[in-house]
Amino acid sequence: MKRVDDFRLRFGKKELVPIVLGGMGVDISTAALALECVRLGGIGHISDAMVPSVSDKRFGTKFISQKTKFFKFNLGNDDKSAVRFDLGQLDEATRLHIGRTMEAKRGDGMIFVNCMEKLTMNGARETLKVRLNSALDAGIDGITLSAGLHLGSFGMMAENPRFRDAKLGIIVSSLRALQLFLRKNARLERLPDYVVVEGPLAGGHLGFGLEDWKFYDLRTIVNEIRDHLKAEHLDIPLIPAGGIFTGSDAVSFLEEGSAAVQVATRFTVARECGLPAKVKQEYFLASEDDIEVNGTSPTGYPMRMLKNSPSIGSGVRPNCEAYGYLLDGSGGCAYIDAYNREVLAHPHAKKIKVMDKTCLCTHMRAYDCWTCGQNTYRLKDTTYRLPDGTYAELSAEHIFRDYQFSVDQKVALPEQP
Ligand SMILES: Cc1cc2nc3c(=O)[nH]c(=O)nc-3n(C[C@H](O)[C@H](O)[C@H](O)COP(=O)(O)O)c2cc1C
Repeated sequence: MKRVDDFRLRFGKKELVPIVLGGMGVDISTAALALECVRLGGIGHISDAMVPSVSDKRFGTKFISQKTKFFKFNLGNDDKSAVRFDLGQLDEATRLHIGRTMEAKRGDGMIFVNCMEKLTMNGARETLKVRLNSALDAGIDGITLSAGLHLGSFGMMAENPRFRDAKLGIIVSSLRALQLFLRKNARLERLPDYVVVEGPLAGGHLGFGLEDWKFYDLRTIVNEIRDHLKAEHLDIPLIPAGGIFTGSDAVSFLEEGSAAVQVATRFTVARECGLPAKVKQEYFLASEDDIEVNGTSPTGYPMRMLKNSPSIGSGVRPNCEAYGYLLDGSGGCAYIDAYNREVLAHPHAKKIKVMDKTCLCTHMRAYDCWTCGQNTYRLKDTTYRLPDGTYAELSAEHIFRDYQFSVDQKVALPEQP
């Protein structure tokens, strides 16, 4: 019976354990978590979502308070078009977050950064260009393009001296999206080094419709893409993601030709994960009925989360002067519209509720939007309970090794002290 460790992900001469920790913004996949996966020979993703906030937390910079002060004049204004990102500061924050992570790297694995196109930051092109190029300049091993079609992203990096040496990949949820990406980038004569195929059971935003995600199946999509690439004589490593919970699940994909697997949910209850301890307990406690896919993200993509996420229904005032990561370029965001509608409908209310959209910047930053994979309800079976009834967090090493060595659909429990 095969184990994940019987396979290797190959990038040229480099061989890696074929386990990729998926990016989890905003600082849920922390540098500490990603670095553990790298030390053990795999790939660890950090994320550049809300990177100025992450830099403030990690390094004591003051990007958020400076931005808030600068745009204070606009706080009472519904029109957020004036709230722009300072590109120099964005570059500085990205270089700090990525540079310091790369300096701390030990072992044979690689650090990648997850870069979501849907963070349009009131100036989609110029901000994305800075994020991508600053990441390359700071020495990142690889960039995974996510949450969007990224038709122009390779072009934005084409002049960078590291464009052909860093590993560049994209997350897709359909063959069609991949074909579009390949067609649009053909002139650059630079294929992606890997493609993550994300199915409907993943955490975070989904590349499917709010109602139709249930009708899709990861294995079917992966096989369709694999067969298409083979027919086109394109040798691009495929990395399935979404719902791969055990080493045996992973092996079943590796045996069918995938190069590695991308996993995240199991790591949300690792000690090194950025979620607060209390939130990790919510993940452990969840039953299958407590998990839903809803439309509250202002990005327009469906998102999976725990039904008791404090973000759902919260009517906080839009925090665009401090954050503004989802502003569309003309100062708009679906949450601002939903919030203003409720304020108008309840002019005398002290507190309002907004059910259909959420201020994702505010709530992701505060770890109040409890996004999770469909298998979150199984996390309780991966550990033991402490005398006070809470579930014991695991080490990232334990989870990584369990994926690497387990067989027979088994999940190894951590040793009790
Ligand atoms: C808490 C959480 C946050 C996530 N955030 C992001 C993100 O910011 N960007 C992204 O591309 N994917 C995100 N994902 C998706 C993962 O990177 C990964 O592809 C997927 O969840 C793998 O499936 P699994 O969780 O069933 O193992 C997130 C997943 C989780 C569980």
